[in-house]
Amino acid sequence: MKIVSAWTRQIESGQHPNSAGLRNHLTAVHDKNAGFTERFAWDCRDANGKNSYQLLADVIDQKCHSNVLDLGCGSGVLLDLCYQKFGPELVLSGVDMNDAELKLARQRLAHTDIKLHQSMAQNLHFVADASIDVVLCHWALTLMDPVSPVFATIKRVLTADGVFAAIIDGDTATAPGYAEIHNIIYGYAQREYPSYGTTELGDPRVRRAGGLKELASKTFNDSDINITPLLLGLNAAPDVLAREAAGFFYASFVLSEAGHHKMLIDLETYFTNHQKDGTGCIVMPANLLIVRQN
Ligand SMILES: C[S@@+](CC[C@H](N)C(=O)[O-])C[C@H]1O[C@@H](n2cnc3c(N)ncnc32)[C@H](O)[C@@H]1O
Repeated sequence: MKIVSAWTRQIESGQHPNSAGLRNHLTAVHDKNAGFTERFAWDCRDANGKNSYQLLADVIDQKCHSNVLDLGCGSGVLLDLCYQKFGPELVLSGVDMNDAELKLARQRLAHTDIKLHQSMAQNLHFVADASIDVVLCHWALTLMDPVSPVFATIKRVLTADGVFAAIIDGDTATAPGYAEIHNIIYGYAQREYPSYGTTELGDPRVRRAGGLKELASKTFNDSDINITPLLLGLNAAPDVLAREAAGFFYASFVLSEAGHHKMLIDLETYFTNHQKDGTGCIVMPANLLIVRQN
């Protein structure tokens, strides 16, 4: 269903979208499509068979970590995974700005005492200073604008030897075929909004390893900062993959019904023409950021 928001209206009129427009757009997309990230991201695996939620959960070391916060927790899949992996001794909490996502998280986590808060990541006034051992953030930092207050807030809530770990978009050039798939989807978005893509959702510095490291270093100037490039792949029948991959891109939510339908046909054709061993394949570029305070 075509999403029209303050952000799309700003894009349409050639304006540079502001933070309020971004918030309005994210709310509109997630209200109608809650849970869309996990539907695709859960099945995308690295060379060792791990998905990006598992890679973030691996950062937790129960010998020294007892309080973990998931920032931009969405439908709660990462919190659920951490609960299953570490049990109720680990104190878990989640924050998200979107009510529809939190509703799914509440349902999924009803059997736990995990606390969920509706809030902007820029201001976690309800989280005490130096109270969290690990802040995790799965594919949400890219969307947070302004992002500097998010880094400052994470620094404030982390313990002196706390860890911040995030999965964010990686370098397109490292993932074979990804640019073509991206261009098919963005091409359709640009037919409806000619300047779509000239302004990304969120702060563009977060999408490049260099910009991300510079941003993180400003706040965490005395910490170890590591960015590991990842490739996350998914194989499926071309028609299934076309729907699943399109469902992960925010650009696909701004399309009219007709545009969306044509885009799916183009994606299916792409995956059919590039089949390997009889299945379509997509490889997503991602970065794993890990900041360890000393
Ligand atoms: C792409 S989804 C990822 C959800 C979840 N982490 C996952 O991977 O399944 C991004 C999430 O970040 C949330 N979000 C974006 N900007 C935010 C902000 N400034 N403060 C709090 N939540 C935010 C959105 O509401 C959305 O649920």
